[in-house]
Amino acid sequence: MVNQLQDLVREAEQAIEKAAGAKALEDLRIKYLGKSGLVTEFLKGLNRLPEGERPQAGKACNEAKNRIGRLLDQKMESLGDSLIAPPADWDPTLPGRGLLPGKRHPLHSVQKEICGIFSGFGFQVVQGPDIETDYYNFQSLNFPADHPARDAHDTFYLDGDLLLRTHTTPVQIRVMESYKPPFNVVAPGRVYRNEAVDATHHHVFHQVDGFLVDRGVHFGHLKGILDAFAKNFFGPKIGTRFRPSFFPFTEPSAEVDISCVFCQGKGCRICKQSGWVEIMGCGMIHPNVLANCKLDPEEWTGFAFGMGVERVAMFKYDIDDVRLFYQNDLRFLSQF
Ligand code: DAH
Repeated sequence: MVNQLQDLVREAEQAIEKAAGAKALEDLRIKYLGKSGLVTEFLKGLNRLPEGERPQAGKACNEAKNRIGRLLDQKMESLGDSLIAPPADWDPTLPGRGLLPGKRHPLHSVQKEICGIFSGFGFQVVQGPDIETDYYNFQSLNFPADHPARDAHDTFYLDGDLLLRTHTTPVQIRVMESYKPPFNVVAPGRVYRNEAVDATHHHVFHQVDGFLVDRGVHFGHLKGILDAFAKNFFGPKIGTRFRPSFFPFTEPSAEVDISCVFCQGKGCRICKQSGWVEIMGCGMIHPNVLANCKLDPEEWTGFAFGMGVERVAMFKYDIDDVRLFYQNDLRFLSQF
């Protein structure tokens, strides 16, 4: 056994001598001194020897272990700086490989910007659920059952009377029935409609709804707030106009046009030569809606409005296809 150990030590000496780097030395340490290393195996076998041979063999084992350990340490030390020296072809003047920073999706930025402008006017930001009941999405908002206005919403129905909300207007009801007036709230969020996807339609899109309820609120307040919003969002030169329209939950109702951002009102393809483009719906909250939330329409009045985030983002950034927002193409997204 002692002879075998001597052979082993000699073999290890040569291997250590030849080892070229830290990794090779570490491998040798494992090979000879590791848990199942060659020297370790000898140590484990000592108790199988006749008792008389054990002291001498034990001593030889320890000597082998110490010697190999020392040689490994010395060699490691002698490699010194060369262990961490860079390879000869390393060029420290090359630029690093920068990390691509993450950033907000343009729809998120625009939604945040819209809410930020209304926050500046004192509005609070509130969110509601994407899955709504028929009551919140329609009935409470004065859409009677079988009313043709429901058809315009192309609803995705779920089980029972649940559905994917078709607009963020139901948040108005949730706020009004849970808190006490006065209210001034904007509600951003995702909405769903069962529509074929094309350059101007998507089955998932985003809206920001808003409303204000207090004593003595009138249409002039609505016009003032929405005109100020348009000038903040699109620029101070933007003009607004209000055209009569219909929504079941507002009376009177209007659509808000802004002077065309592409031709500055001169008339172009986008505004169909009219000089105006529509950006949102609005109106005075219908007395039935207030009454549904247990507010006395003789005491409280309010205005409401709702806009599509994609739509205003497309006007702001001159984007001609809504699908671009959903294709995750970094060439598009990184421009914002
Ligand atoms: N909910 C309407 C839609 O999705 C938009 C709307 C119009 C919201 C008028 C309002 C409003 O709050 O007053 O078409």
